[in-house]
Amino acid sequence: MGERLDSGECLVWRCPAGPLPAPLHTLLDDAEQARARHLGHDAARTRFVTGRVMARLLAARYADTTPGQVVFTSTCRHCTGPHGRLEVHTDAGVLHLSVSHSAERILVAIARDTVCGVDIERVALRGDRIPVSALSPAERRVLADLPQPRRLAAFIRYWARKEAILKATGDGLVLSPADLTVSAPDVSARLLSWENRPPPHLSVHLSDLAVGDEYRAALATLGRPLSIVERDVDPLAEASHL
Ligand SMILES: CC(C)(COP(=O)(O)OP(=O)(O)OC[C@H]1O[C@@H](n2cnc3c(N)ncnc32)[C@H](O)[C@@H]1OP(=O)(O)O)[C@@H](O)C(=O)NCCC(=O)NCCS
Repeated sequence: MGERLDSGECLVWRCPAGPLPAPLHTLLDDAEQARARHLGHDAARTRFVTGRVMARLLAARYADTTPGQVVFTSTCRHCTGPHGRLEVHTDAGVLHLSVSHSAERILVAIARDTVCGVDIERVALRGDRIPVSALSPAERRVLADLPQPRRLAAFIRYWARKEAILKATGDGLVLSPADLTVSAPDVSARLLSWENRPPPHLSVHLSDLAVGDEYRAALATLGRPLSIVERDVDPLAEASHL
């Protein structure tokens, strides 16, 4: 029997995004292997492969199967195509997974019978200025009132919270993150309002995750809050149990 994941719990694995030995790549299914081949950028490919291997290792524990036999399903909320949030259907319910990559870090979240969305972001500027158009008017005012040196980290905190919510709902960036207003970066994470939110309107439960000074991360669950267990995981050590 596989391990039991309590339905009131969400487990979050924090992993380095380094390359894995080639034999571990064979855990991926044909579609994943094809996606990996098409990711030209070496770092992007490494992040994708490591994220999926970790998601398989984690799901296998609770689906009572082996990592190579885990069957992920995903159905896009917008076009019903096979992409988006990951699910694993088991006799004991549905395992919901969410994966996020940024620079050198990967997060994989798993919960039973509750949808979750996780996001990690490195505190770094991607263009030449902070893209404040991703923020709601209320959030922009909070950011503008902060001393300039604190604005980038505050923006990244906002971004991680919003993207975690949009990943939990399965919308991703099809919806504008500026329609969501979340609590100010230095107070506990909460969704305050959401303009033009498409149904269903399940309650959103939001938490910041502890990922060190160089990153910001958040987890959202829909319908109910879960008790979050965060764990640092070494992919090679996990894979050595195979
Ligand atoms: C979700 C999204 C914001 C993630 O951005 P990103 O820069 O790839 O960031 P992350 O690394 O945090 O997340 C990657 C994971 O998001 C998940 N994901 C993708 N689309 C998702 C969605 N709509 N909802 C929830 N999760 C989604 C995938 O599991 C992916 O992991 P994978 O690379 O192993 O497949 C972005 O991919 C997005 O907006 N996707 C929807 C795009 C779209 O146009 N969809 C409509 C098509 S009809």
